[in-house]
Amino acid sequence: MRIAIGADHGGYTLKKWVIKILEKSGCAVKDFGTYSSKRCDYPRVGFKVASGVASRKFERGVLICKTGLGMAMVANKVPGIRAALLSDRASARSSRKHNDANIAVFSGNRITRKKAEEILKIWLKTDFSGGRHKRRVDQIGNMEKKLRRGR
Ligand code: RB5
Repeated sequence: MRIAIGADHGGYTLKKWVIKILEKSGCAVKDFGTYSSKRCDYPRVGFKVASGVASRKFERGVLICKTGLGMAMVANKVPGIRAALLSDRASARSSRKHNDANIAVFSGNRITRKKAEEILKIWLKTDFSGGRHKRRVDQIGNMEKKLRRGR
């Protein structure tokens, strides 16, 4: 699976760990930064990752900032993105089954490495259920189209 990943300074340390897990799981990972713990602005990185996933160059994305909140907000501005802030196994599972989430967002300082690994592994292997959930996800896509047309 092709994965785009990005973080700000608040997610930099966890990002390094997540890249290792993804690569061990056989994913091809493209790192969009940030590349040090020097303070930086999360919207710039979040937008790059979300745009890469929306363009289908990458099948999924992972974003990390201190709380996960800012990255989730940025990513969900990009049409076609369904970014989910994940903090437990149940949210990982349902974000895939029900919402077909294509970006997983983590808080860099509110979950342990072990927890992030557990959540990520579930998130990677869980398929979208389709059916009534597809109807709902399609409704989100239709709203994006309406907004693009200006109504
Ligand atoms: C940076 O201090 C912090 O605001 C950022 O990492 C993120 O948590 C924003 O939502």
